[in-house]
Amino acid sequence: MRHIAIAGNWKMHKTQAETREFLQQFLPHTAKTEGDRHVILAVPFTDLAIAIEAVKGTRVAIAAQNVHWEDTGAFTGEISAPMLKELGVDYVVIGHSERREYFGETDETVNKRLLAAQKAGITPILCVGESKATRDAGKADEWILGQLDIDLVGVDLDKLIIAYEPIWAIGTGDTCEASDANTTIGTIRAHLSSPDVSIQYGGSVKPANIDDIMAQPEIDGVLVGGASLDADGFGRIVNYQVPVEAA
Ligand code: PGA
Repeated sequence: MRHIAIAGNWKMHKTQAETREFLQQFLPHTAKTEGDRHVILAVPFTDLAIAIEAVKGTRVAIAAQNVHWEDTGAFTGEISAPMLKELGVDYVVIGHSERREYFGETDETVNKRLLAAQKAGITPILCVGESKATRDAGKADEWILGQLDIDLVGVDLDKLIIAYEPIWAIGTGDTCEASDANTTIGTIRAHLSSPDVSIQYGGSVKPANIDDIMAQPEIDGVLVGGASLDADGFGRIVNYQVPVEAA
C-alpha cells in the first residue's frame, strides 16, 4: 500500500558503539514524528542485532543493505533472507547502484533477491536509477522502466518499496530537481500494474531540501545516504514539514 517511508542508508558506516550513540540521540526525534510516517534505518550487517534491540518499542524499523537469494548453501560471505528474518529485520535494500556498479549485480540477480526477501516476509526497497550519460542521452525513462521490467518479474507489488535514485545525484550534493524527480516517479508509477506502491526519491537528500521534496505529490518518501549519518539532521528529515497549501 502507498504510504510514506523515510529511510536512512548508512552504507559502510558506523561500528556498534557508534550505532548505539546515534540511536540514543536520534530516537527522541522520532517520538514527535507524525503517525503515518514509516521510519527505517538500513545499517551494516554487524549493527543489525543491536539496532533491532535498541529500536524495540519505537516507531523505527531496521533494514539490511543486501541479501542473497538462496536460503543456505556454499556462498562464502553471503547472508540469506531467513537469517535476516530471524534477527528481526523488516526491510532490505536491494539493487542499490553501488551494488550494481562495484559488485556486478544485475537486474536478474536483483530479481532473485527481491523474490527471496518477500518469501521470507521481508519488505524490499528496490533501487533503480539512471547514470548521467543515460540521462544526457535522453534515455532515462527507458532505462529505468527497463530495469523494472526485469527486476519485478513475479514480485508482489503490495509488499514493496521502490526508490528512484538517479546515480548522478547520489553522494554528489547535486540533487535532482524535486519537480523532475516527481515527474520520473509518476512515470514509474504509471508503468506498474498497481499504482499503490510507495516510491521514494534518493540522491543528496538533506535537511535543507527535504520539505520541497516531500511537497511533491508523487513522492512517498526518501532514501537518504550521507545525511542519515547525523542523528539531529536525520531527525529533521523524518520530521519534515510540508507547507499547508502543498499538503
Ligand atoms: P546520498 O545517498 O543521500 O548520500 O546521496 C543516497 C543513496 O545512495 O541511497
